[in-house]
Amino acid sequence: MRRILVTGARGQIGSELVPALVERYGAENIVASDLRLVPGRLSSEGEYEHLDCTQPQQILEVIRRRDVDTVYHLAALLSAVAEERPHAAWSVNMGGLYNVLEAARHYHCRVFFPSSIGAFGPSTPRERTPQITIQRPITMYGVTKVAGELLCDYYAGRFGVDTRGIRLPGLISHVAPPGGGTTDYAVEMFHQAVRYSHYTCFLGPDTCLDMMYMPDAIEAMIELMEVDAARLRHRNAYNVTAMSITPAELAAEIRKHIPDFAIDYEVDPIRQSIANSWPRSLDDAAAREDWGFAPSFDLAAMTKDMLARLSEKTRKLKRD
Ligand SMILES: NC(=O)c1ccc[n+]([C@@H]2O[C@H](COP(=O)([O-])OP(=O)(O)OC[C@H]3O[C@@H](n4cnc5c(N)ncnc54)[C@H](O)[C@@H]3O)[C@@H](O)[C@H]2O)c1
Repeated sequence: MRRILVTGARGQIGSELVPALVERYGAENIVASDLRLVPGRLSSEGEYEHLDCTQPQQILEVIRRRDVDTVYHLAALLSAVAEERPHAAWSVNMGGLYNVLEAARHYHCRVFFPSSIGAFGPSTPRERTPQITIQRPITMYGVTKVAGELLCDYYAGRFGVDTRGIRLPGLISHVAPPGGGTTDYAVEMFHQAVRYSHYTCFLGPDTCLDMMYMPDAIEAMIELMEVDAARLRHRNAYNVTAMSITPAELAAEIRKHIPDFAIDYEVDPIRQSIANSWPRSLDDAAAREDWGFAPSFDLAAMTKDMLARLSEKTRKLKRD
């Protein structure tokens, strides 16, 4: 087999996707890459390349030299960061994707592109948001995600590049910190609950958004890339979700395990307005029908696992 390249591999998703790919396909077949320079190589990574996706020559060179045939293109600026730095977000999110698609066209690679619930906007139906619906986001992040979905479709239709994608909800994980998204509150809440039994939330208590536990997201990304192309009716990009929850509901679930956990709210107007423009729940029937998407973790199972793993980490830190 030829190799798999992961861009943005040192981020929240890449930190768990790369080890999963290594386990599945062997370390010699995986090339992790990122803009971030981290001294040394992580034992869970295959090969590592320092790669800036805004530089087309660098991508072409790595794909050629490493004999890559599949790219998981994760490098991007996330929603809250993109609102602070819209010009940089356009350059990384759109320029980076364009460069990856061009390289994929040149070297006949398949491309995975993660879209987001941020690809929807205030005029989208907010309950059980359909697979095909109005997409007029009001954030730079959302603009780059919709345009990214369309660009991937264009490269598939016009040049025959095998592009596939999913619209990820907020991801909850314990390995790497989130990169500046609107749903980061959920990860922060777990960490603060374990450490201090207290959290101040930047979204209001009743802000309902879709979420997923990282193992389900990783499984979905790998499954989608492995499925027979003939089964895919949509490609870019499939709605997927595991739970639609509010900060108050997550806090109540955490309290079942940490009874003295307390939450208060100091709403950040920028992230709240982003959240208010996103769906409250997605309809992911197309992903379930076309390629058998079926998440394993609901709110209760995810909360139990997150707290167990974070408590273990905290105990280990104290021991060391
Ligand atoms: N985490 C989520 O909840 C979530 C939800 C929906 C969609 N997504 C999408 O999934 C992808 C990965 O998200 P993540 O949470 O891992 O993000 P992250 O911010 O944690 O990681 C992104 C990585 O990209 C790298 N990067 C930034 N600019 C780069 C450049 N020019 N060249 C190469 N690398 C660069 C960063 O160093 C970072 O390691 C993004 O496209 C994001 O929009 C994430």
